Amino acid sequence: MNEWTHWLPVALVEAVDSAPQAVKLLEQDLVLWRDAQGCLAGAHDRCPHRGARLSLGRVCNGQLECPYHGWRFDAAGPCRHVPALPDFVPAAGQRLRTVGVREAHGLVWVRLDGEGAELPAFAAEGDVRLRKLNCGPYDVAASAPRIVENFLDMTHFAFVHGGWLGDRDHAAQADHPVQHTPTGVMATGCQAWQPQSNRLSSGGALVDYTYEVTGPFSAVLTKRPDDPGLGDYREAIGLFICPLTAETSRVWFRLAVADFESSDEALRAFQHTIFTQDQPVLESQTPKRLPLDPRAEQHTTADRVSLAYRRFLRESGISFGVIA
Ligand code: FES
Ligand code: FE
Repeated sequence: MNEWTHWLPVALVEAVDSAPQAVKLLEQDLVLWRDAQGCLAGAHDRCPHRGARLSLGRVCNGQLECPYHGWRFDAAGPCRHVPALPDFVPAAGQRLRTVGVREAHGLVWVRLDGEGAELPAFAAEGDVRLRKLNCGPYDVAASAPRIVENFLDMTHFAFVHGGWLGDRDHAAQADHPVQHTPTGVMATGCQAWQPQSNRLSSGGALVDYTYEVTGPFSAVLTKRPDDPGLGDYREAIGLFICPLTAETSRVWFRLAVADFESSDEALRAFQHTIFTQDQPVLESQTPKRLPLDPRAEQHTTADRVSLAYRRFLRESGISFGVIA
């Protein structure tokens, strides 16, 4: 499956400590743990001996120990110890089915097909003028592509986020450029009248957004800080989705904001307010899988970003969470 070659997020970095941690991705049960050096390791959550769930076991000296008969495995996968036969040297084939694991953007990322390729970019990560903070996870009964499409869609602001990100008297959407990129889609010059565009807004403002799809199930928006005196840079919000199943998802946001004053809780509370406005509508949409055939749902030119995203998924051969 094409999705297996993409890096996808599965957990907050701080959620994975020395104990084995069960996570799910693309309907695969996985186990994460840290080796003796604190480096992340990941594998399918099934012991090759008799199929027990390794996440019920423990980590001993950096090796993952199965809960059933105590076989021990190195982070790279080989079995190193079979307690029932202390002198036995396991064969090379007696090993875990490992996955690629990395840490980035405050999250643990997994690539089911092992190492290779780049993670979805989040350009604001390296900007020291911006404070980074993760929100979530949110477990959502919606497919990952429906959630990405909602994130790219400004025309719902006036209705779902009235009084916050939009206003019924300013629902008209001006035209703006949309282009395809190697990792997805980019829309620039998207403008929205927003009564309360962030936690500290003191009144309505016309906010200039860019949207970028950075992978099949991730996207980044950037916007100018409300206070022009803060300089010539943009705040960013990354949307990073773990497709648990084709119709359920785990969602995180990565904020990169110019606000160093507010508490973490206050920044998260604003994002929480916005996303919990989206969530019931997202969970109500049918079909849950995003239909890629342009004739399956009705569109206007105001839906150009979502249509470009659907085309990108179609051309990328993505099959998870969509109706091809
Ligand atoms: Fe894992 Fe036997 S099932 S050691
Ligand atoms: Fe929304």
